[in-house]
Amino acid sequence: MKILVAYYSRTNVTKKVAEEIASKTDADIEQIISKVKYDGKIGYMRGGKDAISAKIVDLEPLKFNPSDYDLIYLGVPVWASKAANPMISYIKQNEGKFNNVKFFATAGSSGFEGTFKQMEEFIGKAPLKTLALTTKEVKKDEFKSQLDTFLD
Ligand SMILES: Cc1cc2nc3c(=O)[nH]c(=O)nc-3n(C[C@H](O)[C@H](O)[C@H](O)COP(=O)(O)O)c2cc1C
Repeated sequence: MKILVAYYSRTNVTKKVAEEIASKTDADIEQIISKVKYDGKIGYMRGGKDAISAKIVDLEPLKFNPSDYDLIYLGVPVWASKAANPMISYIKQNEGKFNNVKFFATAGSSGFEGTFKQMEEFIGKAPLKTLALTTKEVKKDEFKSQLDTFLD
């Protein structure tokens, strides 16, 4: 089975989970990079605003085509109880190219439900599984057993 992990990460928390998934499943890994920058304090404000309006942004060129894969793990940080909009942009850009999907998200504390619902709506199909992790769980490496269940 061919597996792709595609993720967006602003401060490397979601990235850590993505890399763990890719190494455990022997998957290809795609880091989604937005041409609109969300660094620093100004970027934080812009991110909240753009997530609320589900703003579609241009992305740096992608390495992999999701339609080549049987299963795609999509990982994202929660922004204002929605998916960070570069992930929504990635889904839009690859419309109709997703086979089976699983979603994972990281957040300070809350907003996972709205995030997964929005991703499902944009992708037009329900995920096989979802994984919601807090920033703290990821930073402290307290997600291994949840991850094993998610990968099964
Ligand atoms: C613009 C913005 C909005 C956020 N909104 C939320 C939120 O609604 N709920 C929450 O628990 N955390 C929120 N966070 C915190 C991030 O989801 C959390 O720090 C996440 O783990 C960061 O992942 P990353 O390092 O992969 O970017 C927000 C962060 C940013 C930058």
